Amino acid sequence: MFNAPVTELIQQRYSCRAYARAPMAPEQAAQLARRAAATKVGPLGTPLRFTLVAAAAGDSRALKGLGTYGLIKNPAGFIIGAAGPGERNLEDFGYAMEAIILYATGLGLGTCWLGGNFTRSSFARRINAAEAEIVPAVAAVGYAAENNRARDWLRRMARSDTRLPWAALFYWAGSNASLDVSAAGPYATPLEMLRLAPSASNHQPWRVVQDGPAYHFYLQRTPGFGQGLPFMLLGLADLQRVDMGIAMCHFELTARELGLAGQWAVRRPPLPPPGGTGEYVVTWVGQEDAAVAESNRRIARTSESACPYVS
Ligand SMILES: Cc1cc2nc3c(=O)[nH]c(=O)nc-3n(C[C@H](O)[C@H](O)[C@H](O)COP(=O)(O)O)c2cc1C
Repeated sequence: MFNAPVTELIQQRYSCRAYARAPMAPEQAAQLARRAAATKVGPLGTPLRFTLVAAAAGDSRALKGLGTYGLIKNPAGFIIGAAGPGERNLEDFGYAMEAIILYATGLGLGTCWLGGNFTRSSFARRINAAEAEIVPAVAAVGYAAENNRARDWLRRMARSDTRLPWAALFYWAGSNASLDVSAAGPYATPLEMLRLAPSASNHQPWRVVQDGPAYHFYLQRTPGFGQGLPFMLLGLADLQRVDMGIAMCHFELTARELGLAGQWAVRRPPLPPPGGTGEYVVTWVGQEDAAVAESNRRIARTSESACPYVS
């Protein structure tokens, strides 16, 4: 799927806001376009569509009208996505777009998520978004300009090179105690890769509670972010739900790379979230738990068919 270990790609990725004045090499653009077009559904079942819009050599007409309010310098293209309806559609969108972004990182391309700084209606037109679809965010893509990272004032403002510590993000079930790295066992790396995920304004709204082989994901909203009149007027999507999907992506891709099997399930845990606040979103059911569930299903099926009243 990727041309390098996903743990490396996660550590290489950062928000690049200034690009070299060069189109993408045709072979790379074709690879990225294929990868984008192949993504049709999220891990929680939402129908999705993605497309790459890229400038050709000496001709940037393809990008005409796709605005970023001047924030992104010389993008070579954009990854545009649309999500269909569904209870977890923004999480699915975040997951899938981030997987495409990590693929682009593997091709040596810089990227930047744009959930606020993009002219939504022109991007929606470009992907022919249907009435029932939404375009929550897009991603700029291209070859990074020299020194773009050091010169980026927005990085400094958002403190983009920092992340919250483990103690603020990861917990044990049934207590407010933090989960420490040694107690996370084989999941220490998936959790660390989750911690490095990008998030809108770098708010990092994800919280994870370990409950045996299950990992419950909660959304801890940033007070005032994404709400109120300015956000409504700008028509912004609920970006912290997109952030949650990105975190799921980093966690699952890393777990799978390490051979840790499991699956996502929406099954509200009986325990309150850490600190008593936070919205439950989804659970990663680690293999051990999944195996128990499967064996329970098998037992249930056997006893059903043994029942004389069931044909
Ligand atoms: C859903 C989402 C929306 C974002 N929207 C914007 C945006 O509109 N403009 C922008 O400059 N950066 C945007 N970012 C980038 C974040 O500011 C950045 O990911 C965060 O500061 C962490 O920095 P890093 O990506 O370099 O690790 C967005 C990121 C995410 C995940």
